[in-house]
Amino acid sequence: MKAIELAENIYWVGGVDWNLRNFHGYSTQRGSTYNAYLIIDEKVTLIDTVKDYMYDEMIERISSVIDPTEIDYVISNHVEMDHSGGLPKLMELVPDATVFTSPKGKAGLKAHYKKDWNFSVVKGNQSLELGQRSLEFVLTPMVHWPDNMVAYLPEEKILFSNDAFGQHIASSERFDDQLPYDIIMEEAGKYYANIVLPYSSQVERILPVVEKLDLEVIAPSHGVIWRSHLPEILKEYQKWANNQTEEKAVIVYDTMWDSTKKIAQSLEGAFATQGVSTRMMSLDVNHISDIMTEVLTAKYICVGSPTLNNNILPSVAAFLTYLKGLAPKNRYGLAFGSYGWSGQSIDQVESVLEEIGFELLEQIKYQYIPEGKELEAEVAEKLDESNE
Ligand code: FEO
Repeated sequence: MKAIELAENIYWVGGVDWNLRNFHGYSTQRGSTYNAYLIIDEKVTLIDTVKDYMYDEMIERISSVIDPTEIDYVISNHVEMDHSGGLPKLMELVPDATVFTSPKGKAGLKAHYKKDWNFSVVKGNQSLELGQRSLEFVLTPMVHWPDNMVAYLPEEKILFSNDAFGQHIASSERFDDQLPYDIIMEEAGKYYANIVLPYSSQVERILPVVEKLDLEVIAPSHGVIWRSHLPEILKEYQKWANNQTEEKAVIVYDTMWDSTKKIAQSLEGAFATQGVSTRMMSLDVNHISDIMTEVLTAKYICVGSPTLNNNILPSVAAFLTYLKGLAPKNRYGLAFGSYGWSGQSIDQVESVLEEIGFELLEQIKYQYIPEGKELEAEVAEKLDESNE
């Protein structure tokens, strides 16, 4: 396994996790990569590491260009273990190397690994001379952990952005112009929706700083490196961070005897009549992290559950818990469902949608089996009333 050159003497030396399918609940159907970067200068510098089980792969890649014991500096942009997992073994190899990290980074690394490495704490936006080149650090707290920072290399116009601008894609290709554009943008959106979305206000504050940089490359810690589609990904991040939505409805539901499904279908028809694009997302067949990809750009979030044992279905409860944590803003919420005799589920769904902060549309609730055309007309009427 070889290092891949980004610029003269700057290499990608990460790991490709082809078989990763679950990243703490995020369905990673395309696998992922953990991107570490090596800068060979007067001070040999490694930016981030990889998950612990990919350490050997990283070392093999580093060894293809330099003896890893020559590493002087290690930059830890983020404590989370997909990027710091390789650090303990690396520091056994280079115990005298200096670890540059944010104040919270130092606290986090010490808490994770119980080691007193030779830390140099990056307290603010400061520079580090490497020889012919330098790194400028920018602290980016809560994008998406308190310890996060990014590093900019002005001489080559490269931003090492850590999780920001990442995508969970395993591939032998390393650059954004080597894979289909739609796939990388879809995965970047999925990544934003499932990891970054709750921290959108922090992203909004950081984006102007990033946009002022003279940039040719954004090198994130997952997926492909952006060198051809920078304006596009920056524009998408701006939209996502601003919670900008499209005329689109996501209809998320589970069903027991297809009655809630019938209401979902009627909603789809009613939205279509209004010229609103729809995505029908049955929880029986769609992973919640894929549903979030659609939620990212949807103006209307409709959630349906029949009543089971005075409650919502567990699958719907799981989705609502996930949605609440990711906290999209500027959305309309609509609760719907069928019931037999008590019907608490619809109010329960509605109360979560309200808690998230969605503006509520009138709920749709039917006892037992709703009827076809009549139902669609009634749903359309309620939607019209809600939109007035
Ligand atoms: Fe890719 Fe927050 O770790």
